[in-house]
Amino acid sequence: MKKILMAFVSAGVLVGAVSAHATPEQDREHAIQYFKNKFPNLKWGDYTKGALAFNKDAWDQYESIMSFPPFESQIEQSKKMWETPFKNGKTYASCFPNGGKNVAGNYPYFDDKLGKLVTFEMALNQCREKNGEQPYSYSDMKTMGLLTAYARSLSDGMLMNVEVVGPGATAAYEAGKEMFFSRRGQLNFSCGTCHYDNAGNRVRSELLSPLIGQATHWPAFRAGENVSTLQNRYKGCNQNVRAQPFKEGSDEYNNLEYFESYMSNGLPMEAAVFRK
Ligand code: HEC
Repeated sequence: MKKILMAFVSAGVLVGAVSAHATPEQDREHAIQYFKNKFPNLKWGDYTKGALAFNKDAWDQYESIMSFPPFESQIEQSKKMWETPFKNGKTYASCFPNGGKNVAGNYPYFDDKLGKLVTFEMALNQCREKNGEQPYSYSDMKTMGLLTAYARSLSDGMLMNVEVVGPGATAAYEAGKEMFFSRRGQLNFSCGTCHYDNAGNRVRSELLSPLIGQATHWPAFRAGENVSTLQNRYKGCNQNVRAQPFKEGSDEYNNLEYFESYMSNGLPMEAAVFRK
């Protein structure tokens, strides 16, 4: 893989993209402008489709898979998890405004009282604990991963709407941005090497999705059956460049998700989707 990537022209735009003093909104506008120049034919909503937006055949194939998803029975199972009352009779819906509809796009948010980020998955666990249930492990795709498939679909069509307000939130956002653009692993790549500089290019046989939109459409069913949350996907990408992955639910990945979600603001949410 190294050889292939060495052949990429490093655009050197990263440095310009992450000015240390830019506000989150300036970062977002800068990134949008950068991708607009790079991909003038892409429509705004296309960014939720990730790398599919660069390959019409793959997109067509995706549409036909999604019209009769192979993971339908897993979605049914997920719906059942969401609707089945806890031992005290309450449900997940009772923990969220509007019964959990159109809320997922507000996560992660920085909880000043807790002094940390709260992802949607953490809110699901907070709900479980508040109602006397054990929290799920963020790494367990059969419980937490599966639960999010239906839970997040209640926010389909909601525009991602993540806020960065106050010193705690700003510090978490900056840490996530730093992580996205820091080189790591034996191959010495940052997330940005692939998903910013080289978005739209190929690595091995795969086209690389752009940063914008990466947080909108989770979980994904990989190969149509293996459910994967956004942070679970981060692990795979870290491992691909032989970097030590962090755990789902770690501060590192929460910060990264916060940055990526902010960069996806204004795009429609969509759950759950097929991915290769
Ligand atoms: C060596 C290049 C490379 C690096 C470095 C890399 N990725 Fe990826 N990533 C890929 C490839 C290839 C895919 C699959 C094609 C695609 O969807 O972009 C992918 C997929 C993804 C996806 C899923 C996109 C979708 O729509 O399904 C996300 C999110 C993602 N990467 C985030 C990250 C983050 C965050 C980092 C840094 C921790 C990172 N990647 C580092 C190559 C890379």
